[in-house]
Amino acid sequence: MCGIVGYIGHRDALPILLNGLKRLEYRGYDSAGVAVHDGQNLHVFKKKGKVKDLENELKDKKIKGNIGIGHTRWATHGEPNDVNAHPHVSQNGLFVIIHNGIIENYKQLRNFLKDKGYQFKSETDTEVLVNLIEYMYLESETDAEMAVRLALSEVIGAYAIVVLAINEPEKLIAARKSSPLVIGIGKGEFFLASDATPIVEYTDQVVYLDNNNMAILKEDEFILKNLANERLNPIIQKIEFDLVSIEKNGYDHFMLKEIFEQPVAIQDTMRGRVTSDASMIRLGGITSVLKKILAAKRFVIVGCGTSWHAGLVGEYLLENLARIPVEVEYGSEFRYRNPIINSDDIVIAISQSGETADTLAAVELAKKNNATVLGICNVVGSSIARETDAGVYTHAGPEIGVASTKAFTAQVTVLTMLSLMLSQEKGTLPYSSFKALVNELQQIPDKISKVLEQNDYIKELAYLYKDARNFLYLGRGYLYPVALEGALKLKEISYIHAEGYPAAEMKHGPIALIDENMPVVFLATKDQIYDKVLSNIEEVKSRGGRVIAIVTEGDDTVIRMVDHVIEVPPVSEALAPLVTVVPLQLLAYYAAVLRGNNVDQPRNLAKSVTVE
Ligand code: M6R
Repeated sequence: MCGIVGYIGHRDALPILLNGLKRLEYRGYDSAGVAVHDGQNLHVFKKKGKVKDLENELKDKKIKGNIGIGHTRWATHGEPNDVNAHPHVSQNGLFVIIHNGIIENYKQLRNFLKDKGYQFKSETDTEVLVNLIEYMYLESETDAEMAVRLALSEVIGAYAIVVLAINEPEKLIAARKSSPLVIGIGKGEFFLASDATPIVEYTDQVVYLDNNNMAILKEDEFILKNLANERLNPIIQKIEFDLVSIEKNGYDHFMLKEIFEQPVAIQDTMRGRVTSDASMIRLGGITSVLKKILAAKRFVIVGCGTSWHAGLVGEYLLENLARIPVEVEYGSEFRYRNPIINSDDIVIAISQSGETADTLAAVELAKKNNATVLGICNVVGSSIARETDAGVYTHAGPEIGVASTKAFTAQVTVLTMLSLMLSQEKGTLPYSSFKALVNELQQIPDKISKVLEQNDYIKELAYLYKDARNFLYLGRGYLYPVALEGALKLKEISYIHAEGYPAAEMKHGPIALIDENMPVVFLATKDQIYDKVLSNIEEVKSRGGRVIAIVTEGDDTVIRMVDHVIEVPPVSEALAPLVTVVPLQLLAYYAAVLRGNNVDQPRNLAKSVTVE
């Protein structure tokens, strides 16, 4: 949600900023802008649309300067247009800022500044903040750093900001609260960004700014402080991915690349955690709290979107295999409904980005109530990963496509390992069954590869249904969350309305929608309730619905009942989500491509939702 990039050093800032913005465009893409200081003057350019549009505008301009900031926006306050785009310059031109997050009390601050004679060009909370900084600077007759500190002390909300002061053009001032900010450390240069993707091609040494911290960066100096003006020691960490992993590698879209990366991503998630002889699972990240986990009366899983769907799969896994009662909650609901949280609860926050505001707020609430909080995150060093007591990284590699794919299967892999591990600690599953499932888990990457071989066939199916206006996805048991996930994938990138339902619930309402124009995707692999799903398929067919069924290889019953089948290799029901979700990802992908949509940057969405 909004991308921030900054540079100070000896190189030309503009190409670094534009390059960084392109890499960050997945975070927000309705407008973009840059500000570069050439030693004498500040040059600010902003434009509605993609970074490419901004780049075209700058093509013939000769802007040289070794210090600058850039921003790609996902609108919160004010529509996407040139004026609302960042950077924002203060009224007297003394400060320029880029900002990610939301200033909740911006209306009060705006009124306060209006009374002091400030006028506003944009509708943004960011322009309020930069004017507040300027006001503090002029009123308190102080330096830029103190002005930023004073302004932030008045702010309620979330922010990651980078500020350039016209009277002190040799430095950048950065600060964060609840919105991520990473500083890359080069030789005589620093790179700032809202995540490490634009930094990795220059350096692998980074500092993740903590909440309420400020960094004051000069070409050869890095000062880290907290908002109380106390000096801190920066902790330098190594970025764990390389440039190749954030490029498309010949695929048309990041989403397709990420779908095809799933066999490797799942291997990476299991690496070092599952012994090769399938005899043991060890999740090192949670050993410190294992006693509490084993003593817990219940688990509460929180997440949003796809991560919430992974949580639902987790509920089935943990209850079935480890016999632990589980509740799954949307982060956004959990945080505001005064939930009952006990100190012997285990709360598991699932998040690809590790930055989702609603999930992070749920984590904070759980911690306040003394629950033990675990994180299942993909982005190393992310806020949720740092806020939680312990956790397990998914190691799926950077996920750039806005539609989450490999993160989901990696999250489910972690939840599977966790459930299996706990089943042995608690003695809820015979060792032979444990071993058989672990063995099978190790074969999942190959099984997914087999599903991926049907890419062209799934593309043909997508062609047949790309003009549908509605879709239903139905599944039961472990496959009900997969139905939800399939529907979410389709709607978010193809813009076809889709709903996921537990198949048996259909007769309580959605069945009224069924006619010959309603494609219904059934998850109908062979499991305990296969026969019941067959009845549900009958109910749809007898009303003229067109059915695409995901079935177990060699199933000769369903094939005679439905319009199309997509076969997946046989798999135990506990592991079926990992395999059956893949054709649904491909179906959504091709439907979106064939409808001419921008798959990696679907309208109105952003990759990491750092606002409420
Ligand atoms: O980064 P997170 O996993 O916390 O993100 C949660 C959701 O915003 C995310 O899964 C969203 O629903 C995706 N666009 C789904 O594809």
